[in-house]
Amino acid sequence: MRAMVIPVHGGPEVFELRETPDPECRPDQVRIGVEFAGINFTDVRNRRGDGLGVPPMTVGIEVAGRVLETGSEVEGFELGEPVAALCGGGGYAEQVIVDAQRVVALPSSLTGDPVAACVTGVLPSAINLLRHGAKVRPGESILFHGAAGGVGSVFAQAARHLGLAETIGTVGRGSKIDPALGYGYARVLLRDRFVEGVLDLTDGRGVDVVFDPIGGDVRARSWEVLADFGRLVHFGNASHEPEVVPPADALRARGLGYVGYSGGQHAVRDLETVRASWVEAVDLVATGQIRIDVSEVFALEDASAAHEMLERGDTVGKLVLAV
Ligand SMILES: NC(=O)c1ccc[n+]([C@@H]2O[C@H](COP(=O)([O-])OP(=O)(O)OC[C@H]3O[C@@H](n4cnc5c(N)ncnc54)[C@H](OP(=O)(O)O)[C@@H]3O)[C@@H](O)[C@H]2O)c1
Repeated sequence: MRAMVIPVHGGPEVFELRETPDPECRPDQVRIGVEFAGINFTDVRNRRGDGLGVPPMTVGIEVAGRVLETGSEVEGFELGEPVAALCGGGGYAEQVIVDAQRVVALPSSLTGDPVAACVTGVLPSAINLLRHGAKVRPGESILFHGAAGGVGSVFAQAARHLGLAETIGTVGRGSKIDPALGYGYARVLLRDRFVEGVLDLTDGRGVDVVFDPIGGDVRARSWEVLADFGRLVHFGNASHEPEVVPPADALRARGLGYVGYSGGQHAVRDLETVRASWVEAVDLVATGQIRIDVSEVFALEDASAAHEMLERGDTVGKLVLAV
């Protein structure tokens, strides 16, 4: 099969299109013929060597396609059936092997649609960040950094789905304000002035929860926009800056909380809950309740170009590889 292989960790240029042996399917696994692979910032981290995997390897954690083979212990999937999956890697390839528990069926309305490659990634992440990371309560106010990105593009919609009224978003550049508003944010602020903006919008109170996938100075300053008893949810570090030490005195005095969330770890520790969120996400997208905006589809062999765009912060919504 053809696969985009990373022979060594490094920049986007390290990708090589190679002919590799078809992967072997264990009794509890499913072989998927990949039609689309979602591109995530996690893939960038794994490619650089800041995440998981040892080269030579193939990155890619979410795919959609058709069942090519089921292991002898697998029940409930038929050959040729359209499916999506969250895999532990290997998604940028014509075939991937996935544990059957990490595969969900797709309705015919999503078959052949690149959006199908995003139903196990960004939307479940958004739902689980809200529900299990921050444990949000109705009426709480929210700030999300990176409102026009992949997770950002579904986050305000997921918050509304869970009964929260309005979400404020931040973006890194002015050209992303309109797309972010289109993704359902009540207000969108430029990140370099977000502290003043949030305090202004909330009459100085701040918000109950900040969701931060950026880190560095953005995370350090996010404490300033938290209301008393608020929580800061750390779920990524796109800035690649050293981790921020939370201000212990302010945490104690103001009752603030510092929460971490990893969708990958959540799936390892409580697959049943995460699997339920994949099924929920498929339904929300298939019924049109939540829109995933696939802004660009690249050919498999153009993964380098897609990673370059994502790393430059040039993208809005989701990027997908057509395999
Ligand atoms: N913990 C989890 O379960 C989980 C799950 C999914 C994603 N994540 C994290 O969430 C973040 C978003 O992931 P995504 O796949 O949806 O990506 P994305 O938001 O589509 O792209 C990353 C965005 O981060 C912002 N950014 C800020 N500083 C950056 C920098 N130095 N380099 C590159 N981008 C920078 C840019 O938006 P602006 O222009 O607005 O600055 C950029 O568009 C990533 O940090 C990812 O690791 C975590």
